[in-house]
Amino acid sequence: MPVITIAQSKGGAGKSTLALALASEFADLGGTVAILDADRQLSLLNWYTDRASEGMDTAAIKVIDASQLRDTEIGGAIEKAKQDAQLVIVDSEGTANFKTTYAAQDSDFVIIPTRSSRLDLERTVETRVMLERMCPGVRYRVLITQTAIVARSSTEFQIDQQIRDTLPTFDQHMHMLDGFRAMSNWRRTLPEVEREGLARTERARTIAQSILGAILEEITQTEDAR
Ligand SMILES: Nc1ncnc2c1ncn2[C@@H]1O[C@H](COP(=O)(O)OP(=O)(O)OP(=O)(O)O)[C@@H](O)[C@H]1O
Ligand SMILES: [Mg+2]
Repeated sequence: MPVITIAQSKGGAGKSTLALALASEFADLGGTVAILDADRQLSLLNWYTDRASEGMDTAAIKVIDASQLRDTEIGGAIEKAKQDAQLVIVDSEGTANFKTTYAAQDSDFVIIPTRSSRLDLERTVETRVMLERMCPGVRYRVLITQTAIVARSSTEFQIDQQIRDTLPTFDQHMHMLDGFRAMSNWRRTLPEVEREGLARTERARTIAQSILGAILEEITQTEDAR
């Protein structure tokens, strides 16, 4: 049962949105997902409890409160979640902290979402150093987020280039799209946003499917090589 941790100590880079997008597409394939919400803001736990109180489906994607656990307890929580779900996603807090490190150590893959800004890039490099030092053998990749599909500035391009040249990076960007934002706004998964016509989702879904596919393929290749 694969475990994916989403790590980025810069706030607002798109960690929780990415967790929902990946969970949405995995659940749409018929899989079950457990998201461990390790952020004290509890954005995703609130998403889940609001859904429960609205009577929406809570079986395919479950969100578990991991925010109050001690740093060293996150491994046990991941292990338990693996018994119940086919995919485990850890959504971490937007600060540098040991809980994220411990979660990453017990993960098959770590995604580092980052916007095309120097401030995010500095934190991305910090996260990368943490992974290299503390989590040897754990695969990771940077995901450039919240970029416009058209009309991008040359500064953004330069920063993207710098990221690609120095860090393992997804080719796919997680563009700034209404479909992604609609998930947290409406307490819906991406397919639900689509079905209910709350926002356009074609592009967002294609991006989420592509990222999920790339991660699952990389995890499978790593397992086969062992
Ligand atoms: N690809 C995207 N398209 C549109 N809106 C996005 C996208 N990614 C994130 N957002 C919006 O940006 C804001 C921050 O995103 P999000 O909460 O996912 O970041 P985060 O990294 O989890 O933040 P924190 O560090 O505070 O937990 C939210 O309002 C979210 O809806
Ligand atoms: Mg978050």
